Amino acid sequence: MKRSSIVSFGFFLASRPQQVLAWQFPRPPSMPPHAPQQHRQKPMFGESSLHGLEDDDIDIVTGSQFHGLRTYANLPYVNCLSEAGAEKGQKYDIAILGAPFDTASPPGFCFSSTVTGRPGARYGPGGIRIGSQRIQVDNYNVYTGRSTLQSWATVVDCGDVPLTWLDNNVALKQLDKAHRVVSGRKAANCTHSITPRIVTLGGDHTTTLSALRSTHERWGPVSVIHFDSHIDTWDPAALGGGISDYAGLNHGTFLHIAHEEHLILNTSIHAGIRAPLIRAKGDLRNDLRCGFAMVKARELDQIGAEGVIRRIKDRVGGSRVYISVDIDVLDPAFAPGTAEPGGWSTRELLTILDGLQGLHVVGADVVEVSPIYDNPGETTVLAAAEVALSLVELMVENPVKSLADA
Ligand SMILES: *[C@@H]1O[C@H](CO)[C@@H](O)[C@H](O)[C@H]1NC(C)=O
Ligand SMILES: *[C@@H]1O[C@H](CO)[C@@H](O)[C@H](O)[C@H]1NC(C)=O
Repeated sequence: MKRSSIVSFGFFLASRPQQVLAWQFPRPPSMPPHAPQQHRQKPMFGESSLHGLEDDDIDIVTGSQFHGLRTYANLPYVNCLSEAGAEKGQKYDIAILGAPFDTASPPGFCFSSTVTGRPGARYGPGGIRIGSQRIQVDNYNVYTGRSTLQSWATVVDCGDVPLTWLDNNVALKQLDKAHRVVSGRKAANCTHSITPRIVTLGGDHTTTLSALRSTHERWGPVSVIHFDSHIDTWDPAALGGGISDYAGLNHGTFLHIAHEEHLILNTSIHAGIRAPLIRAKGDLRNDLRCGFAMVKARELDQIGAEGVIRRIKDRVGGSRVYISVDIDVLDPAFAPGTAEPGGWSTRELLTILDGLQGLHVVGADVVEVSPIYDNPGETTVLAAAEVALSLVELMVENPVKSLADA
């Protein structure tokens, strides 16, 4: 919407160079330049009825999702990163955390994905918050009858982590620390666990590595349920050709690195895979070595959403689970910035996610959302906001004890 109006305004200026100066907003010739008197409108209900409404009756505190500063789903903002913020006693059980980072998805790589060659995922957290604006805290889920955001769990938006865009290593260390700090605070409701859980809004997929380092510290190794069109277990030597160690850590290798760091279990699984491999056999061999099975995108046509859910649940069993959703698991029709046709629909993805109830979800994210490639209907950010809500719902539905609870 914004982009197209800027484009048409620019066109307007370009086509009428003599009449309009660049700094002037164009006026239709029929409208006189200044006529303040004529603009005085009659009150719609008459002066008396408006005056009859007492000032005390006018509500400027509640009643609309269009208010205040924009947080995820209009949740309260808590500065979870600073001691000062936490000292105010604003505790939480589930934290939404933005990771505005896209510099490990460099332009010019030889394979295409959500943000390789299309940077901009650092604006993902803000975009997802815009997409979430229609979600109200006291809404009820029509399928479950429950209110996801009003339950035993206090859910807050911690805002974005300040991440430098000048040095990936420093940025990821900042994100590692942010996860450690946010998950290290005492939960609001200790009936279930003293350790809060985090849903990260990416950011490119590299950001998941910091989350996995943090879940490993709090819960031990996890099975990763990885929704994506790409396997992301690429050996750094295969993806990018091993230019340097610095280049080796990126949004296509982070699961390989998570395996090398012993953060993940060999009961992990990909879902929605359809992007090409770089090596005929080596990529899949390495993928198995990293602990992954896979459900390919088109398998949904044979086994249906129920079949996909069963495959995932059978694979991860009773282990602790981290769910990572790359928005490019969706078809470009449902997430216009993505580059791999033949993906799942938003409804299919949400059905599968909601079907994962009962799993022990200790952390989750939705990543690779690049709002600049979204369309005026904001299709991608609406989908991503809904994905995040499903992830929160899985956490609410099944509290999980951490190592610190033992
Ligand atoms: C904490 O969780 C327990 C168990 O779900 C619930 O009964 C209790 O109401 C919760 N406390 C608060 C303050 O929400
Ligand atoms: C995972 O690794 C363990 C040993 O570390 C092995 O016993 C088990 O069979 C492996 N499971 C899978 C699914 O590969």
